Amino acid sequence: MSSLHFGVFEVYAPHVGGTFSWAHPLSDAADYLDPERWVRMARIMDRTGYDFLFFADGFGYPMQNGDISAASLSAAINFSGLDPSTLIPVLARETEGLGFVVTATTGMDHPLPLARRFSTLDHLTAGRIGWNVVTGASQNAVAELFGHPEMVPHDVRYAMADEYVSLARSYWEDSWEDGALLRDAEAGVYIDPARIHRTEVDGRYYRSRGYFGAPPSPQRTPVIFQAGTSAPGRALAAAHAEGVFVQGTTPAQTARAVADIRRLAAEAGRDPDEIRIMAGLTAIVADTQDEAERLWGEFSAMQTDEIVAALYAGNTGIDLLTLDPDLTLAQALEAGGAVGQMGTSNIERFLGGDGRPAPTVRQILDELRGRGTRGFRVVGDPDRVADEVERLAAETGLDGFLLEPVFGTRDVEGFGELVLSRLAERGRLAPAAGTTLRERIRERPGARLG
Ligand SMILES: Cc1cc2nc3c(=O)[nH]c(=O)nc-3n(C[C@H](O)[C@H](O)[C@H](O)COP(=O)(O)O)c2cc1C
Repeated sequence: MSSLHFGVFEVYAPHVGGTFSWAHPLSDAADYLDPERWVRMARIMDRTGYDFLFFADGFGYPMQNGDISAASLSAAINFSGLDPSTLIPVLARETEGLGFVVTATTGMDHPLPLARRFSTLDHLTAGRIGWNVVTGASQNAVAELFGHPEMVPHDVRYAMADEYVSLARSYWEDSWEDGALLRDAEAGVYIDPARIHRTEVDGRYYRSRGYFGAPPSPQRTPVIFQAGTSAPGRALAAAHAEGVFVQGTTPAQTARAVADIRRLAAEAGRDPDEIRIMAGLTAIVADTQDEAERLWGEFSAMQTDEIVAALYAGNTGIDLLTLDPDLTLAQALEAGGAVGQMGTSNIERFLGGDGRPAPTVRQILDELRGRGTRGFRVVGDPDRVADEVERLAAETGLDGFLLEPVFGTRDVEGFGELVLSRLAERGRLAPAAGTTLRERIRERPGARLG
């Protein structure tokens, strides 16, 4: 049985997963502006065996009727937040082996500042940093904020992403040969000019000529993750990603996505079993099943149709509350609804298949209640949750999960202490193969790509 990997899905903001729970008395998420809250969480994660703390990020927010949605603004659903990359050095100082994965959107800028920022983070964390590559959610809001005349079409964003990642990798891997950093005080030579190389890239979307100034870091290239499971998203993952975050909905659909990503990676000449594919997991764990279900009930009672619709619109460009609730999504869209050039994964998942009929708009609203962008859901006592995690992994071929907390640090601690400890006893957590995130994720020594 293969090992399982675990991260925590967080945002440097009050909400995870597009649901409403920061106002619950058990949650500490409203304290997110206080760095001590993150230090507490990171230390717990380091102690209990998580692989990494993951931060989602972006500039957009859910829009409805051409402006930020009311639910999003007042309840801070996927709105309001800070830059997570700046928090990482603080947390790295407080932890030993925990990795950090930060999301950064391609296509908004030139790859140069991103490459330098991640080189810096890799130095500051001693090789514990990863980059989650996304083409970005809420692209309608993003285009307006950045003053772009229109949104870049979905598939063009992915073509740009491929060039963006390739150029960033070239800065990290090709600019400085090993040994280029001489630091020879006697000779007064810091850099060996013979071992520094010019970048000469003349792409369709990005051009660069000259020298990349950031000295190589322990991993050189941060561990590359990717999220976004549309067809071009999977192709991008197959070309570049060492880890992939998929939207876990049903086991059957996830198993297909996992198999497809591995097939595409093999076609691209890569070892498909080296790619770690993970899905989001909302786990409410309590000492007893009854207690866990009571907590889930309290969380569910806080969710509304308005929150569901705001989030869905932000992700897909489709406002479910303006559609006929008795039609399926495909019918409603054919009848003239807004077809987004935004994310497609959350449209495709409701078009039917798996031998199931396509749900109506009303059924989608009900199904998404309390789900937001969350993946699989398990509510129970520690043994049940551990069993369910193993079952989901076996059925889907997933390599691990991102815990999506509902009640903030309380959930991170509970899952770590009660569930990860059980999975460790069952031999399902990999022993550390090195000190870097790449070694941890790959389960073999070697901090560098290749
Ligand atoms: C686990 C997970 C985490 C994600 N994190 C982000 C994120 O932080 N920022 C973002 O813009 N998109 C994130 N997304 C991906 C978006 O859904 C994706 O970038 C975008 O919507 C378009 O991609 P698609 O059409 O391939 O789905 C995440 C997706 C998953 C499954």
